[in-house]
Amino acid sequence: MNQLFDLLIFLVPIYIANAIPVVLGGGMPLDFGLVLPDCERLFGKGKTIRGFIAGVLGGTAAGGLVAMIYVLPFFAGPQQQFIASFVLALGTMTGDAVGSFVKRRAHVDSGRPFVLDTLFFLVMALIFVYPVANGSLYEPFGLAFMLILTVILHPLTNAIANRAGLKKVPW
Ligand code: CTP
Ligand code: MG
Repeated sequence: MNQLFDLLIFLVPIYIANAIPVVLGGGMPLDFGLVLPDCERLFGKGKTIRGFIAGVLGGTAAGGLVAMIYVLPFFAGPQQQFIASFVLALGTMTGDAVGSFVKRRAHVDSGRPFVLDTLFFLVMALIFVYPVANGSLYEPFGLAFMLILTVILHPLTNAIANRAGLKKVPW
């Protein structure tokens, strides 16, 4: 139980970073409108500079607040957990952009659902934080829990954001 709670708390900067651009994104696209020879955008209109930066800052702030209240067993102390929050938020937004890059190469339109939508950002965040976290974060049970939870929560929260008028499409 304790272990599940820790994993939920660990996911805070990742989920916050992923959610914030929906509200705060907009303006100049991350790819500056660049089109590759396959006639598709590098990342597409769904990835903006403001969204990327807001996601990184928001995820870092959320994880930083958590670190002041509760130190996770995956990190050596609050400072390391704060640094990890930044790394996790950066990994999340990078994974999100890489996911869009792959989507565009597969000729899937921006905003359309795609199998990897749900997991790219989580996997990238976990890779990014590897040098900062200790090995207990990467136990098979914990990894499976985080992947399954995210596969369930991501479409659910997207549908809620759509109902709330924050997101144009329900995925
Ligand atoms: N967003 C943003 N900047 C980012 C990421 C997201 O502005 N770096 C905003 C965009 O308004 C985007 C919304 O958040 O439409 C939802 O994000 P996401 O589902 O990741 O993008 P999609 O529009 O689905 O585009 P893609 O197909 O490339 O994933
Ligand atoms: Mg999407």
